[in-house]
Parts: sequence; structure tokens; C-alpha cells
Amino acid sequence: MEKRCHFSLLCALSLYSVSVAALSRGDFPPSFIFGAGASAYQVEGAAAEDGRKPSIWDPFCHAGFEIDHSDGDVAADQYHKYKEDIKLMHETGLDAYRFSIAWPRLIPDGRGEVNAKGMEYYNNFIDELLSYGIQPHVTLYHFDLPLALQEKYNGLLSPKFIDDFTAYADVCFKAFGDRVKHWVTVNEPNIEPIGGYDTGFVPPQRCSYPFGINCTGGNSTVEPYIVAHHLLLAHASAANLYKDKYQVCNVFWFSSWYQEFRNRGKIGITLLGWWYEPATENPDDIAAARRMVDFHIGWLLHPLAYGTYPPIMRKNVGSRLPSLSEEDSRRVKGSFDFVGLNHYIVFYVQADTSQLENQVRDYMLDAAVKFASKLGPLRKVTEGIPAEPWALQKMLEHIKVYYGNPPVMIHENGDAEAVDPANPELTYDDDFRINFLNQYLEALLLSIRNGSNTQGYFVWSFTDTFEFQFGYTARFGLYGVDFMSEAKTRYQRKSAKWYAKLLGGNRLGK
Ligand code: NOJ
Repeated sequence: MEKRCHFSLLCALSLYSVSVAALSRGDFPPSFIFGAGASAYQVEGAAAEDGRKPSIWDPFCHAGFEIDHSDGDVAADQYHKYKEDIKLMHETGLDAYRFSIAWPRLIPDGRGEVNAKGMEYYNNFIDELLSYGIQPHVTLYHFDLPLALQEKYNGLLSPKFIDDFTAYADVCFKAFGDRVKHWVTVNEPNIEPIGGYDTGFVPPQRCSYPFGINCTGGNSTVEPYIVAHHLLLAHASAANLYKDKYQVCNVFWFSSWYQEFRNRGKIGITLLGWWYEPATENPDDIAAARRMVDFHIGWLLHPLAYGTYPPIMRKNVGSRLPSLSEEDSRRVKGSFDFVGLNHYIVFYVQADTSQLENQVRDYMLDAAVKFASKLGPLRKVTEGIPAEPWALQKMLEHIKVYYGNPPVMIHENGDAEAVDPANPELTYDDDFRINFLNQYLEALLLSIRNGSNTQGYFVWSFTDTFEFQFGYTARFGLYGVDFMSEAKTRYQRKSAKWYAKLLGGNRLGK
């Protein structure tokens, strides 16, 4: 494992170079949750069925913006095949499954009428999971904003989003909260503002970034910060609603008081957890990496932990960074029971202060950082992800040291293989994935032994999915899906057997 260490406090406390023996689930704390996941648009399909209306991703895909010009209209057809998938989850031994509710399926216009068919689907899905003893871990918003809200008021750019999201969350808490005890408000609020409002690579394709393609307008100088701000406030609003209305123990129901207390649900937010490493030992580059970590994860985590944006963001972004009023700050601070982390990759960065005076600024320029050529920023997920598990350790150590060691759920970690869309062969022997997962679980175990409060780990993904931006050219699944077949047939990969063995309590050889 990599031994370089730059942030002094982290260095003093870390054990990056220690290695563990072959893994067993018994090495992890007894209450540790092992799962896997996916999100609605990536697997459900049934895009125009039973009252679902489009999200911002439907027209984007239909316009041909995916690498393979595909869409999620059918995807893995989990809408019709959920029973089969849940049986496979049971056979794999999952403690929990992480999935998202499609807002445009449940409330097709974003606000107002609830779609009974959508309600029925998620009720059935949750009940089926529970019938096998699999805990539902539910994400409320995983990129699929109802198109109606985009058209009505520009979606995430408007503060009206906060109110509509809270109303949607309330419907979910009320309908499913008796059975769902783990909620995530928003998935990756630290990347959607960049993809959708800075680089413009994903819907709604707003950007003024010089390399942006197919921009529909926008202003990268301010919009990413406004969007992240609204996502943060929407999270806090929904989380506070949950805490005030649903998480309290109702002391007047004496007979069920103890049960209620035991069943208190938890709510959190899931951040993309890329790690940034200095490309050289130069102090400027070391400072640049730290800046980038603050811009990336501190953007949301700092206000959640301390009620303010990170000092470096306030300094570099200045008045373009929305301010948190005293009331906002009070509501945001501490509005989570756990932090979800999606970790895949490390980027090497260098200082780039040359353009600080530039009038046309965006996120990277504000961070005064550039990607080093060592691992280019535009490396595609479909090229496979090199395992650099020390980066996960560093991220967890960072969260422990700088944010008060909150409970963490690793909500995504996994590796993809590239698929030639013209010749999509089925692949079974995914040793590369087993090695990847094994190394990250080892690193995670070391982090836990070193004091990290990580409480769960979810492989991304359970079955192959429609990959945002990359369509069906990237496969992440423990189970493969034959997307060419009418039936979207599932098949077991070697990694699924490996994971089942781990979850069955066996010690795994390397
Ligand atoms: C993070 C996103 O949450 C998920 O939707 C995506 O498929 C994975 N990363 C892999 O890129």
C-alpha cells in the first residue's frame, strides 16, 4: 500500500502500510452491514409505464447524449423482475439493499398527486426485501429530477426545489417509514452541480466552461454553488422534518414506546468521496490537494458538521458562494445521523494559482488546482478503475479527524469493465473485481481498527446497470445482465460467489 502522507495530523494517526490477513466477515464489528445497491433510473426500466413521467434524464438520453446513444427506458427491467433480483440478493446473503425511489414515478409532476401504481411498486419492493430479512436503505433523490420541475422553475437552480423535495420526502417517510429505517436524502450533491452546471456533461447541460459540450446556457461561475446550496438546504429540510415528525419516540403511546424507540430510523446524505493526492512533494501541491478535498467533500460536510462552508471556499469563491443565514446554519448543522460515501478513485492534483485573477472562474479555478497528467481527469470509468485502497483509508481518516468521526456508510465501491456496445459479450470470471473489492475491504477494516466509525459497506452494483453518461458500455454488477436479451436475463459472476462466501462467514483466501 502507498505510504506517502501529507496532512500532518492524518500521518500521525494512520496505519496506511499495515496489511491484514485474508478477510472474513467476523473481522468486522457484529452490527456491520454488508450490502449492494443501484438506483432507480439505472435498473428499473418501465420508464413510461404505470404513470411514471420523465425525469431530466429521459430527454437527455433520447436526444442521444449517452456514449452509446442508449437510455434507461428498459434498463435491467427491475420494475418487472424485482422478485427475481431480491431472491438473488437473499442467495448472496446481503444484509441490506440500497436503492432509490424514482420521484417521477411516485409523484410524476414533482408536486401534487401521488401515483398509486408507483406507491404500490415501492410498497411491494420493500415488503419483498423484508420478507427475506434484507434491510431497505432508501435514497430519495439519485439524479432523476422530475422533468416537470425543471420546466416549471429551472429545477435545482430555484429555491422552490427545497419545498417540493421536502413535500416528496414527507410522502415517502409517511408511506414507507414504518418499514424503512435507513434514509438517504440526496445522492452525490457534490458532483451533480459540477456535471449539470459547470462541465455540462449531464442534464440539464448548463455550462459556460470552455470545454463544455452541448451547453444549453448557464454560468459556471455561480450556478454550481447555487445548486449545491439548494441541495444542502433541501437535505436539511427533509432531515429535520424526519427528525421532528417521524424519528421522535411518541411517549404517549406507552404500549409501543419501547418498540418505537428501538425502531428509530436514521437519515443521512451520500457524498461522492473522491480522494485528491498531491502529484509531487512540493508544498504548493500538497496545499492544492488539501484545498481540493475541501472543495469536494468539505463543500457539504463542513456545513453539515460546523454550519458554515469551508473557510477556503469562502475565501476563494467570495460573494459568489451563497451564504448560510443563521437560521440555515442552525438547521444544516448536525442534520444527519450518518454520512454516506461513494468511493472509487483518487486523482493527483497540482497547484494552479496562475488564473486566480481570471474573471471567468469556475469550480476548478476557484480551487486553484489542476489535475496532474499522472491520472488524467478525463479518464473514463469504462477503462476500469485501478485499486488504490489507501485512498479510501485517507478519506476515512480525514472524515474522522476533521469532522468528528461521524458514522459512515460506504454506499458505493466497485469496479467496472468496459463493454464494446457492438459486441457485448457476457463475462463471468471477474477476478479483477474480486481483487478490487477485496483490497478495499481490507483497507476499510484497517480504517475501522484505526477508529473510523464506518458501519456499512455496499458494493456498487448488485446487477449491471445503465451507467449515467456511459449507458451500457460499463458493467459494475456482481450479477451480469444480458441487456441484449428480451428477458434481461441475470447471470451470476464469480464476484457474486465470492461476496456470498464472505457474507456466509467464510474466511477468503486471496
Ligand atoms: C456514483 C453514482 O451514484 C452511480 O449512480 C454511478 O453508477 C456510480 N457512481 C458509478 O459511476
